[in-house]
Amino acid sequence: MGPLAQPPDSTSSSTPHHDRSSGARLEMTGISVSFGGVAALSDVSLTVEPGQVHGLIGPNGAGKTTLFNVACGLVRPDTGRIVWRGDELRRLRPSQLSRLGIARTLQGVGLFRGLTVLENVMVGAHRHARAGFVSALFAIPTSDRDEARLRARALAALEELEATPYAGRYPDSLPYPVQKRVALARALVSDPDLLLLDEPASGLSEDEMHELGDLIRTLSGRMSVLLVEHHMDLVMRVCDRITVLDSGQQIAAGTPAEVQADPAVTEAYLGDEVDVASDAAALTTSTDGRER
Ligand SMILES: Nc1ncnc2c1ncn2[C@@H]1O[C@H](COP(=O)(O)OP(=O)(O)OP(=O)(O)O)[C@@H](O)[C@H]1O
Ligand SMILES: [Mg+2]
Repeated sequence: MGPLAQPPDSTSSSTPHHDRSSGARLEMTGISVSFGGVAALSDVSLTVEPGQVHGLIGPNGAGKTTLFNVACGLVRPDTGRIVWRGDELRRLRPSQLSRLGIARTLQGVGLFRGLTVLENVMVGAHRHARAGFVSALFAIPTSDRDEARLRARALAALEELEATPYAGRYPDSLPYPVQKRVALARALVSDPDLLLLDEPASGLSEDEMHELGDLIRTLSGRMSVLLVEHHMDLVMRVCDRITVLDSGQQIAAGTPAEVQADPAVTEAYLGDEVDVASDAAALTTSTDGRER
């Protein structure tokens, strides 16, 4: 467990910590989304159980990012309900996420080029800052204590991601895998109860992917995780449950072993020759090596 695993000190947050073992459930029910009349999602339901890693897989264009975007308020569904910790989120907006205890990393990296690594991560910590880093950015006076606390949290997040040596660097000067770690640190620094990850392993080497898998399992001890990912070995290793989409429809759901054994899943992947050919191969060869 990294430094962020320690309970936050009582002054670091005005939000009381919820019972994570029972409360951090995200339920999406009957979600449909169409773009210009074309259905991207049709009546899809998915529940991320507290403390679990829920995988969302499917061939290119299946609707994974669309569902992910619904969960983080970037896409408003045409139908369906989103319930987080028992409360329906009716008009969810991305700006509300950190207050709700939800953090995300997007497909790609998305760091601010003009800010150092440390500053980028501090931006993600504003849930825990009384005055907020945005006001700090615009030089609105905030206390030195808040600033110091924010900095300490950001450094702890960088430490957990083994990115401390890069704190003073600018994102563009760093290798892509390091940038991805910084983006993850930025998501973790708000100490979320739900972490949404869209393709966190893209661009990583096998070793880095393995480390990411270990990290995600560690994180699930203190937060629920929704993981959109193409790398089937990683998904099968770290997920408790998996939902499979194809052409906007849910075609399978279950444990990694159940999903792997489902002929509909293999068929969906085999029908798609390009990017996912290796996924399909992995799907038929990888085994669930994790003890549960
Ligand atoms: N903003 C948008 N406007 C129009 N169509 C869109 C938009 N976003 C997604 N789509 C379409 O919705 C469908 C689902 O796309 P989505 O990006 O959710 O798939 P995905 O499963 O994330 O794919 P990938 O594995 O390539 O990331 C696709 O047909 C896509 O072209
Ligand atoms: Mg996508």
